[in-house]
Amino acid sequence: MSSYIHKSNLLNKSRIFNNPQQFIEGWYWVLRSKELGKGKVKSVNLIGRELAIYRGYDGQLVSVDAFCPHMGANLAEGKVEGNGLRCLFHNWKFDADGNCVEIPCLRKSLPIKIKAFPTAEKYGMIWVWTGEIAKQPLPFVPELEFEECDAAFASRFVKNCHPNVVMINAIDAQHFNTVHNLPLEIVFKKEEINKNAIKFSNITRGGKDSLLIKLISPFYQEAGTYSMCYWYGSTGTVTIGPDFLHFHIMFTLRLLEGGKTEGQTILITKKRHGLHGWLFNLIVLWLTKVVGNYFARGDTKIFQTIKFDLKTPLKADESIMQFIQHVENQDGLSWGSWEVVDTY
Ligand code: FES
Ligand SMILES: [Fe+2]
Repeated sequence: MSSYIHKSNLLNKSRIFNNPQQFIEGWYWVLRSKELGKGKVKSVNLIGRELAIYRGYDGQLVSVDAFCPHMGANLAEGKVEGNGLRCLFHNWKFDADGNCVEIPCLRKSLPIKIKAFPTAEKYGMIWVWTGEIAKQPLPFVPELEFEECDAAFASRFVKNCHPNVVMINAIDAQHFNTVHNLPLEIVFKKEEINKNAIKFSNITRGGKDSLLIKLISPFYQEAGTYSMCYWYGSTGTVTIGPDFLHFHIMFTLRLLEGGKTEGQTILITKKRHGLHGWLFNLIVLWLTKVVGNYFARGDTKIFQTIKFDLKTPLKADESIMQFIQHVENQDGLSWGSWEVVDTY
């Protein structure tokens, strides 16, 4: 059997993957929930688009295009009033759907609307859908889909390469041996959850005889799990650990100008009640952070200088090719304008 796989048309023709001008329509993180209390408004640049995000006095979040349809003042300089937002410049007021509801000098409103985007909260984070109507759920950890969760934040980081390229790392089978010194034989099985979500699970139990594997047991014992679930090619959750205790580390990334990445690591576990539960989760989340740091450390240098180009894909890179294919099958939007990209 050959160790090469043919460099398919996929890599030559990929239009979204590793493209600094495009991204996948989906949910992207913008701020931590705690950063936006009731009555507060903030300015955010999300994948090239300026937004004003505020929390009304009813607690609801609203994201709108930042520039006022009157004269272009930045609405993030304005003031939250009730559940609406008033522009600082000439005091026009807009409701939570973006409708203009008051123009003081006219003593009435005009049928003008600013674009509003679906906005929601999960895992302590505020997320915005980069289109008019959310077509999919917020990213979730597959085995915790219906569970209430506790979450904590670990590192926030910038990488000198595209989010899709950073994401690949978790399913790059060879590099576990070479970068992270884990003598594992990893083979992934893919499972497409929907158009925007894909999960890769390790189906081998290799490397058991090595001393290192014994030392880092229970992460890799017989009943261990290692899987990665991607949403929108840019938010990925690693699930790792023995059957009795899974650790979940979510890396949620967004595209910065010039094809760079800004990311946030979120540690997630199932909610456990009572004082014991609280203490238990404190320890679990701390351990999750230790595990996450172990994996994050080795790759830092590579992401600073890589110029990604998978010129010679091997059989061992098959999961990476499958991830690229999955990215290409999603809906692409353009950096900044969020216009739909024509399919070829
Ligand atoms: S620029 Fe906003 S009200 Fe005039
Ligand atoms: Fe890595």
